[in-house]
Amino acid sequence: MNEIDPKRLPQHIAIIMDGNGRWAERHAMGRVLGHRKGAHAVRSTVKACRRIGVRCLTLYAFSMENWLRPRTEVRALLSLLEDYLETETGEMMAQDIRLTAIGNLSSLGEPISRKLAESIARTAENNGMVLNLALSYGGRDEIVAAAGRIASDVVAGTIVPDQVTKELFGRYLYTTGLPDPDLLIRTGGECRISNFLLWQMAYTEFYFTEVLWPDFRERHLLRAIVDYQQRERRFGLTSEQLKA
Ligand code: IPE
Ligand code: IPE
Ligand code: MG
Repeated sequence: MNEIDPKRLPQHIAIIMDGNGRWAERHAMGRVLGHRKGAHAVRSTVKACRRIGVRCLTLYAFSMENWLRPRTEVRALLSLLEDYLETETGEMMAQDIRLTAIGNLSSLGEPISRKLAESIARTAENNGMVLNLALSYGGRDEIVAAAGRIASDVVAGTIVPDQVTKELFGRYLYTTGLPDPDLLIRTGGECRISNFLLWQMAYTEFYFTEVLWPDFRERHLLRAIVDYQQRERRFGLTSEQLKA
């Protein structure tokens, strides 16, 4: 159990960090405390992925739809993000982690979008792992924005419609330059993708666990990776073809 094969690591792991509210409820606390506990799980998961040798970790921290939560909760989530950037950028430098972010980042407002840009710039030369935060992110929003920008470029004459391929489309997405996720982990027991990386997860392996995000530890991560490594990714081919 929990013996991972270092040669077959998922290069890119994406995580839907769900269950903070229910964790808080179970511990008779307010939802905000659940989010605060969730931030600890973020720190330990980043460290564990870096140690294991995962190349890229994308964390779904705040969805487009989450803006519709009560104002106090939205404010608390943004303030936790701000704290995270302030306290963890030094750690990212120490661990050689490059920070990136996807989503409608300007909607985060000041001072967060500025602090985010500063952390991204400061860590830009790091090579050990990419930590990619999905913030104010929606998969459909991302696809629609890409389609809009492609349409503008066609109108401007910088591309012609025949050039619009899957590869070109991918370059207009927020995730340009990152590999597609190999493994998606969702904590909190729900089996849905909630508007996360719709385009990029065409062939991602999904792993759902009942563990609530604030309780997620390295052993849960290892279990997910072991499960992933037992699967055969066929990409539409037959098993025989893959073995040939
Ligand atoms: C995930 O936990 C954190 C965010 C969505 C920002 P939730 O707050 O969704 O927790 P549950 O699903 O209500 O338990
Ligand atoms: C998904 O969780 C978004 C994040 C983890 C940031 P939600 O709690 O918002 O998703 P639903 O509402 O259960 O689908
Ligand atoms: Mg939730």
